[in-house]
Amino acid sequence: MTTQDMRKIVSTIAGTGSYLPAKILSNKDLETLVDTTDEWIFTRTGIRERHIAADGEFTSDLALEAAKNAIHAAGITADKIDLIIVATTTPDKIFPSVATMLQRKLGIAGYPAFDIQAVCSGFVYALATADNFIKAGAAKCALVIGAETFSRITDYSDRSNCILWGDGAGAVILCAAQADMHSKEGVISTHLHADGNYETMLHVPRKENGQDTVLMEGNAVFKMAVNTLDQIVDETLAANGMQKSDIDWLVPHQANIRIITATAKKLDMSMEKVIVTVDKHGNTSAASIPLALDVAVRDGRIKRGDVILMEAFGGGFTWGSALIRY
Ligand code: COA
Repeated sequence: MTTQDMRKIVSTIAGTGSYLPAKILSNKDLETLVDTTDEWIFTRTGIRERHIAADGEFTSDLALEAAKNAIHAAGITADKIDLIIVATTTPDKIFPSVATMLQRKLGIAGYPAFDIQAVCSGFVYALATADNFIKAGAAKCALVIGAETFSRITDYSDRSNCILWGDGAGAVILCAAQADMHSKEGVISTHLHADGNYETMLHVPRKENGQDTVLMEGNAVFKMAVNTLDQIVDETLAANGMQKSDIDWLVPHQANIRIITATAKKLDMSMEKVIVTVDKHGNTSAASIPLALDVAVRDGRIKRGDVILMEAFGGGFTWGSALIRY
């Protein structure tokens, strides 16, 4: 057998899905809650509005709707799923995991299901984990989700913070496929990092009254995010011997349009090649990348064969990227 005849297992995105709660909180609405303006929020963040879960609507409910859409798009039935990973920082309960709740809601049982907590980098962490399960032969069809109800940990009296966050869920079905040994198909590479030294720059400390809310040194986090994402772009391209021009689409974590624009500039990419949803979704943490991916797949911008770079930075700090041929 020659090396050309040798095959390898790759994981490919068979379908995507997403879900946003019905209620919209606009910048104008926020003007009635805190001392801010639509103009300040839009200029500093690129956000116009965000979706907010209804009373009684939890992360697993959003995840379920996104999952159903992804399952439908993949043309499979739920019983084909042999791994569920949910990236979330806002689970319904401390335990059990959203993933096991979702598994029950999908009417399946038996295969592994677990949550990953890497805040805004959560989806990239979850995707990398599922990809490694598949490449190791431990799963054939994974449901990978980012789902959040950040509104539940947001202090709506803190104007520097409450303007950012939104709720939502995005999902992908990641399936095993065979490919030539040297081909760059499906998930080409993933790159994960963390540095716990920055814990208190962006965190949700436990409060005695149980009203745990996000605390953030916004400006310091902003600078760290821009510098770190610059590095991960270089690392991802170098690991694959690829050039900036090989990337068809940037699907970034949607934290702030100014962070996204800085990464696009680093890639010499026109903003037309960047999927931006931050204006309508705000920062939905682990949900933002799969939400943006699903939007661009469904509106026809991202097509089969396109090379996508996903990147994220979040609390911890954690950061990571995924390079994928869709
Ligand atoms: N409306 C009006 N003014 C506001 C405001 C609001 N909603 N929030 C803060 N301000 C004021 C501040 O009080 C400050 O006023 P001062 O100069 O009189 O003290 C001024 O605006 C500038 O504040 P600053 O925090 O320096 O603004 P900024 O340009 O850094 O923007 C963020 C704030 C939060 C939008 C920005 O830092 C950011 O996006 N950070 C990163 C967020 C992020 O990515 N987090 C998650 C990582 S996944």
